[in-house]
Amino acid sequence: MNIYTYLKKDHQKVAALFDEIINANSQTKRESFFRDLKKELLLHAESEHATFYKALKSYPETKEIVQHADKEHAEVKEYLDRISDCSRENAEWLVLVGELKHSVEHHVEEEESEMFKKARSVLDEETEKRLVNDMEGYKEKLLATKKLE
Ligand SMILES: [Fe+2]
Ligand SMILES: [Fe+2]
Repeated sequence: MNIYTYLKKDHQKVAALFDEIINANSQTKRESFFRDLKKELLLHAESEHATFYKALKSYPETKEIVQHADKEHAEVKEYLDRISDCSRENAEWLVLVGELKHSVEHHVEEEESEMFKKARSVLDEETEKRLVNDMEGYKEKLLATKKLE
C-alpha cells in the first residue's frame, strides 16, 4: 500500500463517523460518535502532519500547499474544541458539527486532488510506501503517550 491509499482509507473512516453522528437517534449516541470522530481526526491530522506533510515540506513544489493544509488542520482542531465546549442541550451543537463536516470535506477534497497530484511528482515509490509505516508508527506513539480527547 502507498501513502495515498492509506490516507484515503483514513478519510473514509472520518466520513463514515460523520454519517453516524448525523443519523444517530439520540444526543447520547451522537456525542459518543463525536468522541470517536474527534479521536480519529486528531490521530489522523497529527500523524499526517508529522510524516506526509513533513516529507512534502522539503520540496519547493509542495511547500506552499502544505502550509495551507496546516492552516486548515488548525481550523478543524478549533471546531473540535468548540464542539467539545458546547453544551449538549444547545441547538448549536449540531450546527457546529455540520460546519466541521464542511471544513473537513473541503480539506480532504483539496488533499486528495491537488496535494496528492503534486506529491506524486516529487516523492519516489519507495518513500510513498515508507510513509505508511511512518504514519502507523506515529499513530501508535500518539495513542501510547497522548490523550486524544
Ligand atoms: Fe488527510
Ligand atoms: Fe490533512
